[in-house]
Amino acid sequence: MSKLPSVSSNIKKIVDPKFSLDNETLKEVMVKFEREIKKGLKRSTHSSAETKCFVTFVQDLPNGTERGKFLALDLGGTNFRVLLIHLKGEEDYEFQSKIFAIPQNIMTGLGVELFDHIAKCLAEFAIEMNIQHEVLPLGFTFSFPCRQNGLTEGLLIKWTKGFNCKGVVNQNVVELLEDALKRRNDIKILICAILNDTTGTLMSCAWKHHDCKIGVILGTGSNACYLERTTNAELFEKQNKFDDEKVVINTEWGAFGDFGSLDFITTCYDKEVDHHSLNPGNQIFEKMLSGMYLGELVRLVLVHLTSQGHLFNGQISKQLSTQHQFFTKFVSEIETEAEDSINVVRKVLIDLGINEPSDEDCVNVRYVCESVTRRSAHLVATALATLILRMGDPDITIGVDGSVYRHHPKFDDLMTKKVKELIPSNYRFKFVLSEDGSGRGAALVAAVASRQVQYTNS
Ligand code: GLC
Repeated sequence: MSKLPSVSSNIKKIVDPKFSLDNETLKEVMVKFEREIKKGLKRSTHSSAETKCFVTFVQDLPNGTERGKFLALDLGGTNFRVLLIHLKGEEDYEFQSKIFAIPQNIMTGLGVELFDHIAKCLAEFAIEMNIQHEVLPLGFTFSFPCRQNGLTEGLLIKWTKGFNCKGVVNQNVVELLEDALKRRNDIKILICAILNDTTGTLMSCAWKHHDCKIGVILGTGSNACYLERTTNAELFEKQNKFDDEKVVINTEWGAFGDFGSLDFITTCYDKEVDHHSLNPGNQIFEKMLSGMYLGELVRLVLVHLTSQGHLFNGQISKQLSTQHQFFTKFVSEIETEAEDSINVVRKVLIDLGINEPSDEDCVNVRYVCESVTRRSAHLVATALATLILRMGDPDITIGVDGSVYRHHPKFDDLMTKKVKELIPSNYRFKFVLSEDGSGRGAALVAAVASRQVQYTNS
């Protein structure tokens, strides 16, 4: 096999200063992130905080004995899913699920239509499972920033990712779904809890790993929740708070940077991604690292390098000059270690309309992917290191889920190494891939909630 060319120095000169962040810079990010978390938790500073740190009202983690039949809805990732879950105790469970498409026109259309669509899918599923006459408790994983006043009330603060439906912001999402179900009047459902996917991930992981205290999503979007002392969660209205009592906080870390904290590291490519997004000025951290944007960031760098004559003989293709045509899954494919990995890059480029990319082009494109991924993993590590130190627990498990974490061959390794560098060596942590947080996790939250109202259906 002939030796591959090395990455061009011209490429490195442009890419490195923008995408490689040294530990000193990452520690600066940690200080800012900690400051925003504290602001989010405090009543007097909450409104000016970038990370809102919403109280989830989830306090009891599962203990493995939860039982019963539950429905779960999962809205907010790549797919919309409806699930029927049978928790059998002793960490045993069975489930059936169905994926439904949410057409683009519904994702950015009227809220009423979105909830009518969800109710229709739920009814179809209930009939298919022959449970339409049972009143099953349901956990609704709704993965957007919500202000909760209890387990069954969630006011949408803003849409994120690919959604932007009219008439939903500031509304109680549970009520919107109940109204849609009433309009149909063919199934009876008891909505027991609304939760974020990070909470589901934490719950799902905590079912087996009782030291799991952080839930992270690295998928279309990115976010984390963690266990905070109730005494620090000023917006958690509760008569008596005890010193060792905890509540799950949904950080909504995707919005870190929205008021300028990250301006010192954002690049011209980040600004362009933001400018052309559905929600300019929002979710700055998320746009630097999550699956919805990683491919687009790579594409913008490639377009820029080509316009400078450093790639593809200065000739860009129509696909590569079109927004969102470089999918994040290409980044994962390109970075997979394989003997003929250069041909994987070549194939992606040819499919994207580049004629005869040279070996040098392929090596350089892979370098761009690696640089964008590395920055993403390091930023996530930075935020996680901050939460680990904040919790002060020297031994924890972190539940993780999401397409980037699952499918990118190097993300876990990059992230683990960087967290280690950023926290003292006496701290131990491990990442565990959380099994179906949005489904099983939702059932567990519903189980814990329905336990509280003495609901028995097992
Ligand atoms: C976005 C949402 C957040 C969710 C995350 C991962 O950041 O705002 O609620 O947890 O995506 O799906």
